[in-house]
Amino acid sequence: MKTFPKDFVWGTATAAYQVEGAWNEDGKGESIWDRFSHTPGKVERGDNGDVACDQYHRYAEDFQLMQQLGLKNYRFSLSWPRIYPQGKGAINQKGLDHYSRLVDSLLAAGITPWVTLYHWDLPQTLEDEGGWPARATTDHFAQYADIVSKHLGDRVKNWMTINEPGVVAFLGYLTGDHAPGLKDEKKALQAAYNLILAHGKAYAAIKANHATTKVGLTNATQNTYPLVRDESVAAQAALADAQMNGIFLEPMYKGTYPQIVLDDAGDKAPEITPDDLKVMNHIDFVGVQYYTDTLIGPKGLMFGATGSGYNFFDYTEMGWAVTPLGLYDVLMNVKNQYGAKEIYVTENGSAWQDVLAPDCRINDPKRQDYLVRHLAMVHRAIQEGSPIKGYFAWSFMDNFEWAYGYRPRFGLVYTEFASQKRYVKDSGYLYKQIIKANALEDSYNFNGK
Ligand code: FCB
Repeated sequence: MKTFPKDFVWGTATAAYQVEGAWNEDGKGESIWDRFSHTPGKVERGDNGDVACDQYHRYAEDFQLMQQLGLKNYRFSLSWPRIYPQGKGAINQKGLDHYSRLVDSLLAAGITPWVTLYHWDLPQTLEDEGGWPARATTDHFAQYADIVSKHLGDRVKNWMTINEPGVVAFLGYLTGDHAPGLKDEKKALQAAYNLILAHGKAYAAIKANHATTKVGLTNATQNTYPLVRDESVAAQAALADAQMNGIFLEPMYKGTYPQIVLDDAGDKAPEITPDDLKVMNHIDFVGVQYYTDTLIGPKGLMFGATGSGYNFFDYTEMGWAVTPLGLYDVLMNVKNQYGAKEIYVTENGSAWQDVLAPDCRINDPKRQDYLVRHLAMVHRAIQEGSPIKGYFAWSFMDNFEWAYGYRPRFGLVYTEFASQKRYVKDSGYLYKQIIKANALEDSYNFNGK
C-alpha cells in the first residue's frame, strides 16, 4: 500500500475553451481559438469549441458528479474574452458574474477552485495588435489578473497565471499547429519571454489584492533524454532542456535566462533586461504537466518517441509513449535544479479509444494502468523528498483536444457529445477509490486486463 501525505490535494483539470462552449454568448468576445477552429483545415474534421461539453450551462450538474466521485479540487480556466471581450478596456460584467456564480457553486459542493488565468484563448483583438510577441499584451494580462482577483479573490486562493508557455509560444508562433497559427522563430522566442513577463506582472497584481494568496504557473516540464551516447546528441539534449524548461523556470526561480538559448537564437533572441528579470523572479508553486518523455536521437527531437520505431513503449491514442518513470525524474529535477518548494502535478493523463458499452459502462484498463503507474511515481518522488502537494488528473471529462478536435478522449468521465450525457469510466471509479483511501493498493495491476 502506498499512502499519500495527509492533506494531499486530489483533483481533476479542464480548460475553458475545451469544455465551456457558449462561444458567443452573454457578450463574450472572439478568441484566437474561435478564429483558428473556424478556419477550415486547422482542426481535425473541422471540429471546434462552439459547444464543447457545454459546461458554461451545465457546470452545476458537473460539480454534482465531481462530488459523487469525491473530487475535492477542480482546476479550470477563465476565458479572458468573456471578461474583456476586446482583451482590455470595457469589462463584460456578465462574464465576471458567470465565474462568480461558478465559484460559488463549486464551493457549495465542497470543491476548492484552482483557477488558471490563461489556457490559450487570447482575445482575438489582442492578437490583431501583435499577440504575445507584443509587449503591450503583458500589461493587458496584468490588468485582467487584477480585475478577476479583485472579484474572485475572496473565494479563490490558488491561481495559475499561464498554462504551458512553451506550447503557447512554440505551437502558436513557431510550428503554427495551434492558434494563432504563425511560423516565425523570432516572434516565438519573444512570446516565450513575454509570457513569463506577463506571469510576473500578474503575480504582482494578484498579490497586491491578496497578499497571502498563492500564485503559480503550469509548465509542460519535459525530460530531454539523449538516446545515444554521442556528444552532439548530448549537446542537443541540453539545448532542448533549456528551450523547453529553462527559459520558463529559470527566470521565475532564479531571475536568470539560459544563455545557451540566446546563443543558439543569435539575432532572433529576445532582448533581456535586468528589470524584466526582477519582475519575472516570483513564483509560489509550479504546476508540472507531464504526459510522456521527450527523447533526443541522432535525428533530433522525438516527443514520446512518436513514429521513431522504438517499439518497447505502449502508445496512447495521441501517439505518445507511456513512460511513467519520466514523471519521477521531472518531479525530482524541478526540485533539485530549480529549488521548487511547492509542486503540484497539475495535468497528467492519457487518451484511449473508449467504447460506451450498451450497459453504459466504459471499461478503460489502459487509462487505469496509466493512472496507477504515474501515481506510483508521484508517491516515490514524495518519499524521496520532492515537495509534491497534489495531483490533478487530466481530464475530468472528454473534451475538445485542440488541433485533434474531439477524437482523443482524455476524460475520467465519458462525454457523449451528441446528447451531452456524461458517463463515469472505470478509471473515474478507480480514482474515486484512490482518493478515498488516499493510497494506492498494491494489488492494482490493470495493464492489458
Ligand atoms: C496539455 C494541455 C491540455 C490538454 C493536454 C492533453 O498540453 O494543457 O489542455 O490538451 O495537453
